Amino acid sequence: MAGRGMAREIEPAISARGVIKSFGRQRVLDSLTVDIPYGVTYCLLGPNGSGKTTFIRAIVRLLHLDGGEMSVLGRPVSEVDEIYSQIGYMTQHKALYPDLTVQENMEFYAGLYGLKKQQRVARLEELLEMVDLSEHSGRLAGALSGGMYQRLSLACTLIHEPELLLLDEPTVGVDPRLRQTFWEYFGRLTQEGKTVLITTHLMDEAEKCQRVGYMRAGRMAAEGTPEEILRQAGLRPILKLWLAEPERDAVLLRAEGYEIDVVGGVVQVRLESHARIKEVLAAVSPLDMRLAEPKLEEAFLRLSEAA
Ligand SMILES: Nc1ncnc2c1ncn2[C@@H]1O[C@H](COP(=O)(O)OP(=O)(O)O)[C@@H](O)[C@H]1O
Ligand SMILES: [Mg+2]
Repeated sequence: MAGRGMAREIEPAISARGVIKSFGRQRVLDSLTVDIPYGVTYCLLGPNGSGKTTFIRAIVRLLHLDGGEMSVLGRPVSEVDEIYSQIGYMTQHKALYPDLTVQENMEFYAGLYGLKKQQRVARLEELLEMVDLSEHSGRLAGALSGGMYQRLSLACTLIHEPELLLLDEPTVGVDPRLRQTFWEYFGRLTQEGKTVLITTHLMDEAEKCQRVGYMRAGRMAAEGTPEEILRQAGLRPILKLWLAEPERDAVLLRAEGYEIDVVGGVVQVRLESHARIKEVLAAVSPLDMRLAEPKLEEAFLRLSEAA
């Protein structure tokens, strides 16, 4: 156990080094290298077919790699089946029993993971509430709407309090209010030191993650914190200033080394960082102002074009 504690400090939760996987002649993971640290929500983004699901399946060894190395929770991936009880995997496809009720599906998973009766009752109740299914616990899984089904899948994935969560498009069909609840819950899990790897198509979800990996054709086209990715793409926040004398102040700000555009009488300052806002406001006194944050979507577009 002491060994695992050590591993936790020096190793990431998941580490992939030059991972290769081909189906026939198609190389789906193409020397993929990435570290996913402990205790973060990590978002895997990328167009359809870029290899996200394949990567997740490789982590739990549902497929064997053609090359490269991978470790999961401090173990070589070849031993990952020994730590399945520490992993929760929600697949992109339907994995519940349609002819069992909501409650029965959850009890099945609780039993599978060896939860004791008393533990089980409290855990089921808590999770049913989190996914807002308490009132539907008697419904057959096969009769649930798409969003409800996703919610039940998530609850079943979480039942054994896994250290590492692998969630493949968990919020598809889930309404925005409940998506918010999910994200808050993921935040709580990471605060407890758990690691959440999540794939999504939704940019606003990516912006909520501590780290983001943007996959293209089986490798990372961009990787890092959302801020780092914006910087890699050369995107910066823009401070728009409405000034009494825009031309004069533009000259003044340029002289201080700021990158300035004047668009329709509005002075736009490209900021190195948010910390510069204070300095700009010490130099000029705007009548009004607005901060335009760059969008991750724009960053990915730029990085895709450059790749
Ligand atoms: N078992 C398989 N056999 C053959 N091709 C596969 C298999 N699994 C995935 N692929 C192919 O690999 C590519 C990547 O798929 P996938 O990892 O599911 O991408 P994503 O999850 O990013 O949409 C796709 O072109 C897909 O058709
Ligand atoms: Mg997929």
